[in-house]
Amino acid sequence: MNTVYLNGEYLPKDRATISVDDRGFLLSDGIYEVTPAYRGRLFRHDQHMRRLQKGLDELRIEYDPTDLPEMHTRLITANELNAVDVAIVYLQITRGVAPRTHHFPPKGTPPTVYAFAQAYVRPETDRWTLGYEAITVPDRRWGRVDIKAIGLLPNVLAQQAAVDAGVEDALLVKEGVALEGSHANVFAVLDGVVTTHPATEQILHGVSRQYVIELARDLGMVVEERPVRVEEIRGADEIFFTGTTTEIRPTVRLDDQPVGDGNVGPVARALYEAFLAGTSGP
Ligand SMILES: Cc1ncc(COP(=O)(O)O)c(C=O)c1O
Repeated sequence: MNTVYLNGEYLPKDRATISVDDRGFLLSDGIYEVTPAYRGRLFRHDQHMRRLQKGLDELRIEYDPTDLPEMHTRLITANELNAVDVAIVYLQITRGVAPRTHHFPPKGTPPTVYAFAQAYVRPETDRWTLGYEAITVPDRRWGRVDIKAIGLLPNVLAQQAAVDAGVEDALLVKEGVALEGSHANVFAVLDGVVTTHPATEQILHGVSRQYVIELARDLGMVVEERPVRVEEIRGADEIFFTGTTTEIRPTVRLDDQPVGDGNVGPVARALYEAFLAGTSGP
């Protein structure tokens, strides 16, 4: 049975219902967060919760997050996910239920809080070792994509363009700069330097991105946070995406051209090894 959380209650998914007047449904007026748990252990949960709080503050949604860590743990247990290698908890908070207006509903309207947990299945090592393909897609998102808002239509269309092209990832490009993926951050290895876009309003500040930066520095790699132009990334030695439901995914072909020598490179391999070791726990 799939147990979900809705507004303070734990219940079977098929009994969880929300109003058609929910502002998330009508207006995409809300935010979300996706937190991993490795063998039942929440990973970097504080960082996910900090990002959630920042989003709530930016959107001026009033919600007390005190119970969220316990809710995450309880959902994982209720869904028997303590023993799986990777589980994720998806949490969404909207501005609640009210007759449709563009402005905020009356003060005191309770937000809608919904969460579910499910397993994330890592690719087999043999598959990962072959590498993945990506295409570039114009970034048509709004100007505050550092907020993890639920309105993801441009991301959906970008990822569908990748699926239509028969590849795994979409690399979003704005004004000539390779910003990030449709649901992951992007890194390039340029002359040996591990390079990724700075944490501005133009990318989501990925928790995995930050973790990978720390792993790279621990491994003695040089890391630079700066915008990377699309022409530059086409000549990169390596490209890889990072994210909670991506972990580290190496790109060996971009727009049908090989990246570097067309194989998964040593930097992505070393970082993935460190990532797996760092998340496997005691
Ligand atoms: C657009 C975008 N960038 C980056 C990420 C990666 O963030 P995180 O590593 O915190 O999962 C995500 C995750 O969903 C995303 O949607």
